[in-house]
Amino acid sequence: MSPLHVVILAAGQGSRMKSALPKVLHGVAGRPMLHHVIATARQLGAEQIHAVIGHGADQVKAATAGQPVNWVLQEQQLGTGHAVAQALPDLPDDARVLVLYGDVPLTGVDTLEGLVSSIDNDTLGLLTVTLDNPQGYGRILRDEQHQVTAIVEQKDASETQLQIREVNTGILAVSARRLKDWLPQLSNRNAQGEYYLTDIIAMAVDHGMAVAVSQPGNAYEVQGVNNRLQLAELERWYQRREADRLMTEGATLADPARVDVRGNLTIGNDILIDVNVVFEGDVELGDGVSIGPGCVIRDARIAAGADIKAYSVIEGAEVGRFAQVGPYARLRPGTRLADDTKVGNFVETKKAVVGEGSKINHLSYVGDATLGRNVNVGAGTITCNYDGVNKHQTVIGDGVFVGSNTSLVAPVNVAGGATVGAGSTITRDVADGELAVARGRQRNIADWSRPVKKS
Ligand code: UD1
Ligand code: CA
Repeated sequence: MSPLHVVILAAGQGSRMKSALPKVLHGVAGRPMLHHVIATARQLGAEQIHAVIGHGADQVKAATAGQPVNWVLQEQQLGTGHAVAQALPDLPDDARVLVLYGDVPLTGVDTLEGLVSSIDNDTLGLLTVTLDNPQGYGRILRDEQHQVTAIVEQKDASETQLQIREVNTGILAVSARRLKDWLPQLSNRNAQGEYYLTDIIAMAVDHGMAVAVSQPGNAYEVQGVNNRLQLAELERWYQRREADRLMTEGATLADPARVDVRGNLTIGNDILIDVNVVFEGDVELGDGVSIGPGCVIRDARIAAGADIKAYSVIEGAEVGRFAQVGPYARLRPGTRLADDTKVGNFVETKKAVVGEGSKINHLSYVGDATLGRNVNVGAGTITCNYDGVNKHQTVIGDGVFVGSNTSLVAPVNVAGGATVGAGSTITRDVADGELAVARGRQRNIADWSRPVKKS
């Protein structure tokens, strides 16, 4: 089959966003709209993706670095037909060309597969949608046989044409050869003085080509974003679909309207997700995981049976089976909690490997540390991992008991079975079986009279 080339139009200014950020970089589900469109094009198996940029071109390119895109500069925005024409030199004659838009981020891959598969050298594929309020869109004109004959833009339409509710989504597919014939022939003699891509429909019909019309399953799939209200609408639609997917796949959501997924969330069965939870990046939840209200979880693997309690923030971490985290815990990147561990309230961990059954229950900082199995870290324990210049490791062996309010000045090693007395500042290694106490000795002074207030 002839190769598929996708041309994404993204040169417009988007002035109604009232933003220094180019419109196509505004995010839906935590990702720039343009990146959604690029991902869709890749899923379609596009041989090459061409993005036509103009306003904010440098910013758009910088934000999209590393993605397989051929950048095409449209210096002046003279219309959608002119925009596609800028990509013509990069389109092989035998290509099928699909035109997408950087500000229409959520078109379904299956919708587009249908559109693309409907075309050949004598058939143009057009995606239309029927709207209650067609205001602003190009209207689809059909003849008595119901065949599409042309598209007329809102500003060029007659009163009668304005009554038509079937509108152009802008998305179409056609052979490169045809585009190369037609685009150079476009004129800008119309109400907006623009080169309209839509004029190729009438050209195709004149040449005896068929127009294969398809429609998306949902109008949101073809909704463009011109302002932040529309951005928010698409965001909510996206999130509602994600919520529906999660419920279908085995999650109970306390409120499907109060969970946001900004990335890829993979789940097992019997998941519980309470209100106001945000997932970012790649997150995996094993069977039976429970996430309390207000948690933020980013790039994490949480194994079966783990219980993440309210208002915990987890990033770049792995949580083992039946571990308990929070409330109010913060697991930072490089944290690996083994099975049956407990990290309680107001505990921060970073690059901390915590062995099976170990507990850090209250008010602690554990960073650059390795803890063995069944370690008990008392309340208020701090690993002093930073000397102002370098980070150092703390290593704690199996079964160690660290008394409350201990400072472990790294690098330091507390061997398995050792005990650290509460309130200690540990600066030297502790051996197996030893008790380390490093605090001021208590003095009790008898008959102490407290100062009295001067009258
Ligand atoms: C276009 C269609 C209209 C359709 C509507 C759907 C034309 C002539 N009209 O109208 O039939 O109903 O989309 O939303 O195609 N762009 C460029 N370079 C340009 C002009 C536009 O990159 O020179 C990009 C814009 O950034 C935007 C998209 O193309 O993302 C659509 O352009 P816009 O001028 O907004 O088209 P509409 O008037 O909405
Ligand atoms: Ca326009």
